[in-house]
Amino acid sequence: MKTIAITGANRGIGLAAARHLAADGHRTVLICRDEHRGRDALDSLAALPGGAEHHLVVADLASLASVREGAGAVADLGFTLDALVNNAAVLVPERTLSRDGFEIQLAVTHLAHFLLTDLLLPRLRRRPGKSRVVTVASAAHSGPPFDFGDPGFATRPYRRTRAYQQSKLANILFTFALVRRTTGTGIEPVALHPGVYDTGLLRNYVGRVPGGGLAATVFAGKPDRAGPILAELAAGRSDENLTGAYLDKGRPATPSRAALDEEAQERLWEWSASAVGM
Ligand SMILES: NC(=O)c1ccc[n+]([C@@H]2O[C@H](COP(=O)([O-])OP(=O)(O)OC[C@H]3O[C@@H](n4cnc5c(N)ncnc54)[C@H](OP(=O)(O)O)[C@@H]3O)[C@@H](O)[C@H]2O)c1
Repeated sequence: MKTIAITGANRGIGLAAARHLAADGHRTVLICRDEHRGRDALDSLAALPGGAEHHLVVADLASLASVREGAGAVADLGFTLDALVNNAAVLVPERTLSRDGFEIQLAVTHLAHFLLTDLLLPRLRRRPGKSRVVTVASAAHSGPPFDFGDPGFATRPYRRTRAYQQSKLANILFTFALVRRTTGTGIEPVALHPGVYDTGLLRNYVGRVPGGGLAATVFAGKPDRAGPILAELAAGRSDENLTGAYLDKGRPATPSRAALDEEAQERLWEWSASAVGM
């Protein structure tokens, strides 16, 4: 049995992975922002075969104070984590700020996971075993480089898909920078494009087709299909060393040139550390 913490685990891809892990007998820690939605997800896991216990930690990733409290609550459970899955993300139509004044997509999708990972690194299994930090990125990270001059769209026009692209690029830049900081520890940072699924997030991304239907329902798969991909990566069944891998639905892939830029990886790390007060 492994112990796996997942953010954004109350619906979509995160819930699908939690359900798959639970059915396989692994213990999960669901990190969700809403107590009721989180409790519903927890109850749905209890109904599955597998027999492990599951836990809910309530944390709003749009607040750095809440991320710190959530990390403390995970640590208080007393488990050694076999994986941390940085899965939660948000996509909003209008430029919105987090509690701490950062553009909210970057705040939730990247900064919160940057801080959460740092706070939970001491809880992750070290050699002779190993653990993973799986950050759910997206093929949608491809595009322009990270804009260090205006990361929060304060002066340039806000476009929701552009802000999403930047936040997903940040997920991969972060993963590669984390590799350099965990070498030799047994912790494997991995980034994943999970595939395309009909979730709340995708519906906000693609909008409607002519005639008014939701585009996501036309071409995307059910999020349940992402469950095994993410769960098997997190539970680390394979003996492969996936340190620093970018996977497309579980298969090694090459991320964009902007994601491979080491200077940008390190610059984002420094910017993020300062932003979260690390
Ligand atoms: N769907 C796709 O086709 C696709 C493709 C590529 C990558 N991805 C990635 O897959 C991951 C999961 O997305 P999804 O498609 O499953 O989306 P989803 O169904 O919209 O789920 C997003 C999750 O993030 C949580 N979340 C949002 N804001 C939060 C906050 N402030 N604090 C804590 N949790 C918060 C949501 O909680 P609430 O329920 O409380 O809002 C929800 O549990 C994301 O990283 C996304 O970028 C998805």
